[in-house]
Amino acid sequence: MTATTTSLTRQIVIFDTTLRDGEQSPGASMNMAEKMEIAQALVELGVDVIEAGFPIASQGDFEAVREVARNVRGAVICGLARSRDADIDRAWEALQYAERPRIHVFLATSAIHREHKLRMDKEDIIRHAVAGVKRAKGYCENIEFSPEDASRTEIDFLCQVVEAAIDAGVTTVNIPDTVGYATPKHFNLVIQTLRNRVPNIDKAVISVHCHNDLGLAVANSLAAVEAGAGQVECTINGIGERAGNCSLEEIVMALRTRHDFYNAGTKIATRRLVPISRLVANVTGIQVQRNKAIVGQNAFAHEAGIHQDGFLKERTTYEIMHPEDVGFSRTDLVLGKHSGRAALADRAKTLGYNLSGEQLDTVFAAFKELADKKKEIYDGDIASLVEQQIHAIEEQWRLDSYKVVCGTGQVPEVVLRLKRGDQKFTTTVASGDGPIDAVFLAIEQLTGMAVECRDFMVHSVTLGKDAQGEVMVQVEHAGQIYRGRGVSTDSVEASAKAFLNAVNRILAVAGRKKAEAAK
Ligand code: KIV
Ligand code: ZN
Repeated sequence: MTATTTSLTRQIVIFDTTLRDGEQSPGASMNMAEKMEIAQALVELGVDVIEAGFPIASQGDFEAVREVARNVRGAVICGLARSRDADIDRAWEALQYAERPRIHVFLATSAIHREHKLRMDKEDIIRHAVAGVKRAKGYCENIEFSPEDASRTEIDFLCQVVEAAIDAGVTTVNIPDTVGYATPKHFNLVIQTLRNRVPNIDKAVISVHCHNDLGLAVANSLAAVEAGAGQVECTINGIGERAGNCSLEEIVMALRTRHDFYNAGTKIATRRLVPISRLVANVTGIQVQRNKAIVGQNAFAHEAGIHQDGFLKERTTYEIMHPEDVGFSRTDLVLGKHSGRAALADRAKTLGYNLSGEQLDTVFAAFKELADKKKEIYDGDIASLVEQQIHAIEEQWRLDSYKVVCGTGQVPEVVLRLKRGDQKFTTTVASGDGPIDAVFLAIEQLTGMAVECRDFMVHSVTLGKDAQGEVMVQVEHAGQIYRGRGVSTDSVEASAKAFLNAVNRILAVAGRKKAEAAK
């Protein structure tokens, strides 16, 4: 696996917060199995710290942090807490099982937050911050402190808070650009100032946590590294609150590609970047745009003739990184109905999926079914099959069959049959703006769920006439957003499966809440 350091290189700690700040992206909530899978993939990627959640925020968050702490080895496991006793105690309750636990305490420091949110003066802030750090320190050695909204905090006061937090025992002091307000030169200066003016600054690692509201999260993080920051907080695909966080794949590849300038590296296995990007996109339903740096479908595509000509003569004319180094496979090998289990397992492995025997059995069965419908099976098909099988949630409702009659100026008519356990339910609906709308209405009628479709996306998984269509939907139910995903060579069927997948997710969440309430 490719590592990005040499002996003289300064090693930057990669702190991944996909499971905490990343999960704060609207509609990105993940269930326990999904979080465990991402946590494991993050360890294989080589991140140093995994922020697994905010334990006091909900029972689900608490359990997720506890399960990651209990089962995931090979990285520091971190949990977030406000600078309050109850938060810190709850964080420790979840983290105590970790091999290497870290409590991350935060408290806002900017004038805006002090006056309007916290109603505290500067002395109160310092007192609370110190008390929080000390309480956390009573539980474990590894403590991080974040003065929230640091980039909008008066620099003299920021220096005082940081000094007090380090005196109280923090091992990492994180400087968040909470609202994405900083610009590279400004942020570089903030870090330089802390290094020059805080007397005990050498006793802690300086970390940065940048949001992307102005599209500057990666640039600001790089500017901070240049000024001496030793940890960068980031998320896979840059997901996170509002416009998101610093993107892990971008900061890692920027440090690696411009090693000449930063002389800093990470221990990230860069060939795992594309597989983990796909995993997070599929789990959260937040697909990356085609032109997304590093992991987007077009990130290494050369279109202009002049570029293609130069590239063919010498690839470095227009390529600063090798696609293989971030995990794109050079060949898109084609499998078909005569391909065996071993060939499928091998292809899945190249795409970043290590399937267990049982998982391979299910994926292989689905592969054979698809190969009967479709002559050639490409990487995209395989990734999609694996995702459907290994991220399957408990499906209360399944599609049995559908028939639609529609045409220009005609009200569509659908006959839909769904299965629930062994029972079959059929309805006929003559309504809707088109065949897909009619199928959605029929699903609502049969399942008895009132669901509003908020977003609908369709794209083809591979190229070609018989390509599979993947449909992603976001639906709203009782004020919450849920996602659903369906794949088929027939786009109406893919839409029906996606909508049903969302309905099944709503039912799964409701079931979990009921079970929790009954405890
Ligand atoms: O953006 C932010 O300030 C945060 C803190 C909790 C670190 O996410
Ligand atoms: Zn944040």
